[in-house]
Amino acid sequence: MMEENINWSTFLAPYHQAVDELKVKLRGMRKQYEIEAKHSPIELVTGRVKSTSSILDKANRKGIPLSEIEERIQDIGGVRIVCQFVDDIYTIVELLRARHDFEIIEEKDYIKDEKSSGYRSYHVVIHYPVATIHGEKFVLVEIQIRTLAMNFWAINEHSLNYKYSGEIPKEIQTRLQRAAEAAFQLDEEMAKIKDEVQEAQWIFHQYKSKSHKKGG
Ligand code: GTP
Ligand code: MG
Repeated sequence: MMEENINWSTFLAPYHQAVDELKVKLRGMRKQYEIEAKHSPIELVTGRVKSTSSILDKANRKGIPLSEIEERIQDIGGVRIVCQFVDDIYTIVELLRARHDFEIIEEKDYIKDEKSSGYRSYHVVIHYPVATIHGEKFVLVEIQIRTLAMNFWAINEHSLNYKYSGEIPKEIQTRLQRAAEAAFQLDEEMAKIKDEVQEAQWIFHQYKSKSHKKGG
């Protein structure tokens, strides 16, 4: 691809298609758990395509020529799966590994190997085929899997990183590390009462579907 005449809408179109398709597919998995009245390891699914300016920023920062962004920037397409409990994350990873509609090319477990910032999540990079009018086109999509607590931490830290252009003052960094520890403790405590929580949610689900039927 020539650097001077990159057509962004053409370039980004398959990423939009891939992210949209993945959102439908993953939300479909959530729906199936609901139909089968089982605890869903998937709480919510979001997705986005990186903006042109963020792609250029990242390419610049990492010294990646525009001709190589397709292979070297793995998160132009990004999907996030948020769950309630830490072990749901590993259930989701297994579900992704069992699928045949894409290929997993990389996995990073930042839960077992927490980042120095305090960041925790499980990352899976996939090679996803998009059917286009010109034939099959493969794009890379980064899937981030994390608990609600990890997500709460990560979105706040991300905002601060943005505000301070990646140079968060030491004092705030320390607070963030403490917050990360607290989020970790929250996940640990919730794991201990997971069965209780799920039973309660199951009862509530039954109650809701019964009252729904009565109400017509
Ligand atoms: P980038 O970090 O994206 O430049 O690429 P990488 O190859 O180092 O991949 P890595 O797995 O480290 O990060 C990929 C993505 O994970 C990032 O784009 C962020 O969305 C997220 N991420 C990684 N580290 C952090 C962190 O410390 N804080 C937050 N909020 N998000 C992070
Ligand atoms: Mg990184």
